[in-house]
Amino acid sequence: MQKQGSLLDICNHNGAKKKTAKRNKKDFFDKFDQGTCLKLDLLERSVKSWLPVFITQNFIEEINLVDFFAGEGKDASGKKGSPLKIIDTIQLFSNLITKREKGLTINLHFNDDNQGATERLKVHLKKIKDKVPVYVDIKITNKTYEDLFEEILPSLDKNNVANFLFIDPFGLALTRDHFQTISSLRRTDFILFTPVTNVQRFCEQNGFKQHFPGLKRSYFEDPKTAHRKLCEYIKKNWVIDEYYLHSFAIQKAKGHRHCLIFGSRNKLGVYKFIESCWKEDPENGESNFSFEGDLRTEDCPMIPELAGSQKIKNFQASLDKLIRQKAILSNQDIFDFALDAGFHPPSSHVKDVLKKLKKDKVIKNNLSRFGLSYNSVDKGLVDLEFITYR
Ligand SMILES: C[S@@+](CC[C@H](N)C(=O)[O-])C[C@H]1O[C@@H](n2cnc3c(N)ncnc32)[C@H](O)[C@@H]1O
Repeated sequence: MQKQGSLLDICNHNGAKKKTAKRNKKDFFDKFDQGTCLKLDLLERSVKSWLPVFITQNFIEEINLVDFFAGEGKDASGKKGSPLKIIDTIQLFSNLITKREKGLTINLHFNDDNQGATERLKVHLKKIKDKVPVYVDIKITNKTYEDLFEEILPSLDKNNVANFLFIDPFGLALTRDHFQTISSLRRTDFILFTPVTNVQRFCEQNGFKQHFPGLKRSYFEDPKTAHRKLCEYIKKNWVIDEYYLHSFAIQKAKGHRHCLIFGSRNKLGVYKFIESCWKEDPENGESNFSFEGDLRTEDCPMIPELAGSQKIKNFQASLDKLIRQKAILSNQDIFDFALDAGFHPPSSHVKDVLKKLKKDKVIKNNLSRFGLSYNSVDKGLVDLEFITYR
């Protein structure tokens, strides 16, 4: 793979930003802030819903979970960081793993280029070594993200493996080349944590331009939706084959916005990530802040039906309209439309629309058999039964 100038270097090591990066590193493990805790919760949820998909497939012999920027393992107050959260999550599946007909190895690769961080991580891991199941193999390395990426690529590209990559730098790390390599791997999903405010601010600067050709500051109209726009940019400019991406925005206390970008070649992957996002944010399923037009119940005590997220209202209005216009004709169509809009297809957001259409005598499907889950849609197509009047 062709090496480009490191985005991390450009982002973290030029002029004034060097100081900021050092301060980030110093403060980060003192106390994980709310945004970091939210990021880690979402990582935990995602790994929890991702693991059983591959544990239950007997042809999978190895699962690789790679934490490229693993850090120290805990903050100073004892809150668990990504490596320990990943280990906790794996332990939930002991029964499922021991029931398998064939053996399985889960390779945990924890890396950080800071030796102090990996030493502290080793101390934390030593304390829990008796709790780590025998099928888990932990490797700790002290390399740069770029070097590790090149080194482990062949092991991610083997037959009979599934990979989950967590890319959690202080700055920007993922380049178009890395993205395209990752997205070409089979059974490989990733979560990238990225400071979207920085992409927005620096995208027209030299160095950034080579990674984000054609990206202009003006492209990000509303800073609150910058995570969506970044995802759209990646879809349009980086994605080669069919690929699914979804983002979740996190506003930190100082106002800086970051986002988690999830990527998968598989529809099931993004279906599960979207479900996790809605569990984390029942208002909009995509952020820890509200968007333009959203109203909380306490904002409109006189007319409570005005309350709610504009995103949900818009989605439901579009779904209703498309079904009435017969542009959406089956459970498969509904499933794809919902997923594309960042909604979980079997959620009440979708079902409420269908119930209303039934009540309005537009369709007459028996909703209990409608089948909007991934498994149901995978099993087969169910056409909407439209009621036609003579
Ligand atoms: C945001 S922290 C990671 C936090 C960790 N995932 C957790 O949950 O606790 C970023 C880490 O990346 C490390 N780091 C910075 N630049 C790196 C690079 N080029 N390669 C690998 N690690 C790097 C830092 O030492 C730091 O520990």
